Amino acid sequence: MTTTGLPLPLAATGLIAVTGATGHVGGLVAHDLSREGARLRLVVRSSARAPQLPGATVTETTYGDHDRSVVALDGVDVLLMVSAAESADRLDQHRAFIDAAVEAGVHHVVYTSFLGAAPDATFTLARDHWATEEHLRAVGVPHTILRDSFYLDFLPNLAGPDGAIRGPAGDGVLGAVARADVARVAAHVLLAPHEHAGQTYELTGREALSLTQAARITSEVTGRETVYHPETVEEAYASRASYGAPDWQVDAWVSTYTAIAAGELALVTDTVERLTGRRPLTL
Ligand SMILES: NC(=O)c1ccc[n+]([C@@H]2O[C@H](COP(=O)([O-])OP(=O)(O)OC[C@H]3O[C@@H](n4cnc5c(N)ncnc54)[C@H](OP(=O)(O)O)[C@@H]3O)[C@@H](O)[C@H]2O)c1
Repeated sequence: MTTTGLPLPLAATGLIAVTGATGHVGGLVAHDLSREGARLRLVVRSSARAPQLPGATVTETTYGDHDRSVVALDGVDVLLMVSAAESADRLDQHRAFIDAAVEAGVHHVVYTSFLGAAPDATFTLARDHWATEEHLRAVGVPHTILRDSFYLDFLPNLAGPDGAIRGPAGDGVLGAVARADVARVAAHVLLAPHEHAGQTYELTGREALSLTQAARITSEVTGRETVYHPETVEEAYASRASYGAPDWQVDAWVSTYTAIAAGELALVTDTVERLTGRRPLTL
């Protein structure tokens, strides 16, 4: 065990590539791995925004750019692939990046998927995650899938400027997980990938909360009055119509809530604690 409780790397000379390092999850993973003295390559869209970390080099690419990604991933042993920002062609970008990883000879891919990923998942984006997982399985590269629940630290952001969380979640509950816990699990897996090959981990917090409970905790912690107002599905589409967002995006927004109502995010697992030895954070 090391200073932060992570296991010592099995392949200490292996080069670990971390995508999304300019964002929340990838940034946390990069910091965790840097503290462990890992050989790191941060694979980012803009090197100017990459964290400056001991032991890390920085390379630019974007998932949709297959040729550049093959070069960016050259010599990489293990890759953390953080799912891309939502877009109409995200799945194509994911497939292009996975193909690039295979072409570059990456030995193991760790992918951040979503809890309950399935072709018929209520949350529409969980279907894209499923299709990305399927591509990983199809190309045959050793991999580990982290199926993250909704991010716990994102819950307060669901509230509008008036402090109301509005959506058709009914009385459903969700076992949301902190990004920091997802990052700790990812770092753990990246340091000993062979031990986790072929595994799919469902990452949740330690409890399932309703949006009413989440709103109450948010009020207590932030001092800002936050409440949950359930909407019907029709009200949810109507209240989001003025944003002018494309249909796929509005479907994604609304289905976040209907997935909660359907009980598809209610799962609570012990996976975070089992893998990291630390109980998951609470809201
Ligand atoms: N489980 C959940 O509740 C939940 C909620 C929201 C999002 N997500 C998914 O989880 C991912 C990680 O969450 P997060 O909080 O760390 O997000 P984040 O802070 O927005 O970071 C996303 C990272 O991915 C990079 N990225 C996005 N699209 C890319 C592309 N096409 N090619 C290469 N890099 C790309 C971004 O680079 P730039 O800095 O250049 O933009 C950024 O570094 C998100 O990207 C999203 O897919 C999950």
